Amino acid sequence: MAVLLAIETSCDETGVAIVKNRKVLSNVLASQIQVHRQYGGVVPEIASREHLTILNSLIDQAQHIAEVDWSDIDGVAATCAPGLVGALFIGMSAAKTLALVHQKPFLGVHHLEGHIYASYLNQPELQPPFLCLLVSGGHTSLIRVQDCGDYQTLGQTLDDAAGEAFDKVARLLNLGYPGGPIIDQLATRGNAQAFALPEGRISQADGTFHPYHSSFSGLKTSVLRLVQKLQYQSDRLPIADIAASFQETVARSLTKRAIACALDYGLDRIAIGGGVAANSGLRSHLQAAATAHNLQVLFPPLKFCTDNAAMIACAAADHLDRGHISSLDLGVYSRMKLEDVMQLYL
Ligand code: KG4
Ligand code: ZN
Repeated sequence: MAVLLAIETSCDETGVAIVKNRKVLSNVLASQIQVHRQYGGVVPEIASREHLTILNSLIDQAQHIAEVDWSDIDGVAATCAPGLVGALFIGMSAAKTLALVHQKPFLGVHHLEGHIYASYLNQPELQPPFLCLLVSGGHTSLIRVQDCGDYQTLGQTLDDAAGEAFDKVARLLNLGYPGGPIIDQLATRGNAQAFALPEGRISQADGTFHPYHSSFSGLKTSVLRLVQKLQYQSDRLPIADIAASFQETVARSLTKRAIACALDYGLDRIAIGGGVAANSGLRSHLQAAATAHNLQVLFPPLKFCTDNAAMIACAAADHLDRGHISSLDLGVYSRMKLEDVMQLYL
């Protein structure tokens, strides 16, 4: 059972974790949300500098909590794709340096494979195949998980990610950043049927709609039009009703696609990951639909759904156990298909 120290710096969370195969020995995280909040979103250059400032102390903390020294660690990993290039570079350079100094193997990890591994952290006995619904600020994907390093993306958003849609709608309602948790909270007080909003659909050449792809930019524009119309009619915006109607549309759309995909591909379990997995509307829609179709939904605890280094260490441990090691010449990539993940290893 490999013990991995992993670093996650792909966006605005600095994470360091030590994982023994699928057991978390330590998992420390420094969020930059307060720093970026004033700008209404993540500023890449500031993110890089914040990672650089905090990383060394988090590495010390992670080792202290896990009570391991370098002789106990079998490998050092870092997220190397996809993400903000400058931010990824900070974490990967640190991991390579530690690997070199302590003569351990280095492993670059695909961030989305990390999100998939969050489900293994929560349920160590979980075995593929299963479907992963990954819904975060940067991604909305339906992934068939076949084995370590073997994935097939069956559906994705063709424009905004689900979390991005929550953040943009919150911004146009002047609710603050990040928007997802605020809209979720407001929605509990609103009427989800108050406004009919259109679910984004992707046309195919034969005139039908793609069953698994999503689109959220049209929905965001519809909310904008609705707000403009309502503002024209009255001074008081029914914000809770707008939030609830928007959330309902996103939850319904994601649930429909995930269930169709699981049924079509004969996958009886849907593992959910990413920050939007916290959404109460999505959770209840998905759970109800899954139960109706005799499918199981796996919801990892939120600390593993949102960005963290434990999921990266868990994925790296599985790769190291299979003899997969990365070159110290590995670069960072702002984009990389999950299907290409094995290109990260020698
Ligand atoms: O996975 P994550 O922490 O970071 C990445 O994007 O990788 O996800 C952050 C996203 C943000 O867009 C945030 O608004 C959204 O997850 N989010 C939510 C909720 N909590 C976080 N969206 C909807 N409902 C929530 N309760
Ligand atoms: Zn993420």
